[in-house]
Amino acid sequence: MSFPYQIKTLEQYRQVYQQSVSDPEGFWAEIAAQFTWKKPWDKVLEWNFKEPNVKWFIGGKLNITENCLDRHLAENANQPAIIWESNDPSEHHRVLSYKQLHAKVCQFAWVLKNNGVKNGDRICLYMGMIPELAIAVLACARIGAVHSVIFGGFSAQSIADRLQDAQAEYIITCDGAFRGAKDIPLKSVIDDALVTCPFVKRVIVYTRTRTPVSMIKGRDLWWEDEINKVETMGNPDFPAEMMDAEDPLFILYTSGSTGKPKGVVHSSAGYMIYTNYSFVNVFQYQKGDVHFCTADIGWITGHSYIVYGPLSAGATSLMFEGVPTFPDAGRFWNIVQKYKVNILYTAPTAIRSLMVFGTEFPANYDLSSLKVLGTVGEPINEEAWHWYDEFIGHKKCPIVDTWWQTETGGILISNLAGVTPAKPAHATLPLPGVQPILVDENGKEVEGNGVSGNLCIRFPWPSIIRTTYGDHERCRTTYFSTYENLYFTGDGALRDEEGFYRITGRVDDVLNVSGHRIGTAEVENAINMHHGVVESAVVGYPHEIKGQGIYAYVIYNGNLEDQDLARKDITATVSRIIGPIAKPDKIQFVGGLPKTRSGKIMRRILRKIAEGELQSLGDTTTLLDPAVVEEIKTSRL
Ligand code: PRX
Repeated sequence: MSFPYQIKTLEQYRQVYQQSVSDPEGFWAEIAAQFTWKKPWDKVLEWNFKEPNVKWFIGGKLNITENCLDRHLAENANQPAIIWESNDPSEHHRVLSYKQLHAKVCQFAWVLKNNGVKNGDRICLYMGMIPELAIAVLACARIGAVHSVIFGGFSAQSIADRLQDAQAEYIITCDGAFRGAKDIPLKSVIDDALVTCPFVKRVIVYTRTRTPVSMIKGRDLWWEDEINKVETMGNPDFPAEMMDAEDPLFILYTSGSTGKPKGVVHSSAGYMIYTNYSFVNVFQYQKGDVHFCTADIGWITGHSYIVYGPLSAGATSLMFEGVPTFPDAGRFWNIVQKYKVNILYTAPTAIRSLMVFGTEFPANYDLSSLKVLGTVGEPINEEAWHWYDEFIGHKKCPIVDTWWQTETGGILISNLAGVTPAKPAHATLPLPGVQPILVDENGKEVEGNGVSGNLCIRFPWPSIIRTTYGDHERCRTTYFSTYENLYFTGDGALRDEEGFYRITGRVDDVLNVSGHRIGTAEVENAINMHHGVVESAVVGYPHEIKGQGIYAYVIYNGNLEDQDLARKDITATVSRIIGPIAKPDKIQFVGGLPKTRSGKIMRRILRKIAEGELQSLGDTTTLLDPAVVEEIKTSRL
């Protein structure tokens, strides 16, 4: 593959950026023409942010898997598409060439078809990080089914909520998943979820951990048995379904400031083009490079930069089943050495957690293959940035600080490795086609440099969120109604003297815990379901490893003789309702919460107390009962 749209110099970046702003349609059409289409588009773009209604490459027909698989077969059939490293370092790794991956995707697409799956059906995937997850994702795309991957850290209740929202009739899972020293019983969690989801017709189960599972006759099937049936059919090729450019490719649930998680819907063509374009440019991918993105496919980073971006570019994508600290804190570096990784893309929280173990671990491995380092998911602090630069990149590898969101589909603001300047803790400049703008609280543009504001985007890019599944109005009110004619990101940002963006974090009630997005309202709802809880308020506080920790203030009318036990009970409730990823780090029992006379909780005060800033609480005289603040301050954890 060649990438005529790969930007090579800063000057070229500036020129391409200008062109992308003055003629976005011409700009994206030229890039789109590099892909395989079953029918060309009639019109490049139609949009308004009022409804919102955004459509790219209208009338075009394609299948994303032909672009990720078939088109590489002529020249790169034997190149590794996926290298898989097991959780257990003594288990043999697996390599799937483009040819083998193509064959496996076709096989599994047949399995889906044999079980009645049709174009447009929703399929939920709840699996560990094994190649079969990527195969299942691509098989869904090949047949035109809409995949919805659920991260393995979510509970049965969370899965049930998502299955119901998406009305997903099919599930693909594993008996269990290995994560470090743990063995997570995925199928059993699915069984619990299905108690309230009788509409699910089929559950296909891949054997990974050999954990005992219950298999219900007529509903549950073994992956391996279904594959055998396709083998007896003679393993025919599976013709890729012809999809409309705007057909939904997947739904991915993410948290917001209110209510339950929403299903972010991405399209087929726009998403493909943008993930490919951003992959090739941000990481400066070169043919033959081994790309190691440490995210889980349960999150958007895995969708875009393990599966679709790298595979559409014909790259070798390394998938890792385990965790960075198992069996020891040298695991990432061992993988880099073993596979001669060229591009390493990880999260600040992973870097911080590894820093704690000292520099001996990276020093023990040969990291000389590395060319580019990346971070994503949260602001990276300067200390972590410098550690990454010095002890991993040996000051030879540009670090790309990539800012984006589930809703944006791909990286929107980032330096391009070695091409545009890097600056510690700054995402820096927008990618071509991306038009950021800072606004004040009233929606007025904040112009010039050396300023800050709320980060919005004023023009659509191809992989922008299309809708929230089943509730378009929610999409409008969440992202497009705060400021007229702008997409609102929910993040605050600074634009420094050089015009570089620095993301300062969420300005809404959304937490970023170890790079995972969690709504405070969601955690409160879960805590409030516990028997003894009267009311609760959840805020974030700075956490050395996780970035943000979860601090819960709880009014409890149960027995508090053993506070630790009560805390454990509440934590267990949150685990049940949302999943272990949302467990509070601190739970403080309080007699009351600071409320205004109209009954609104003053989170600002609670946040300050959680942060330990007891002197600067601001005006508390408007509170219904200012005395509660004193009580909360003295019993602070
Ligand atoms: O607050 C921003 C933060 O992560 C949020 C998006 O979370 P999610 O949809 O789960 O996607 C994470 C992976 C793309 C953003 O609103 N965020 C993401 N990347 C960065 C970041 N904050 C600062 N710097 C980043 N590079």
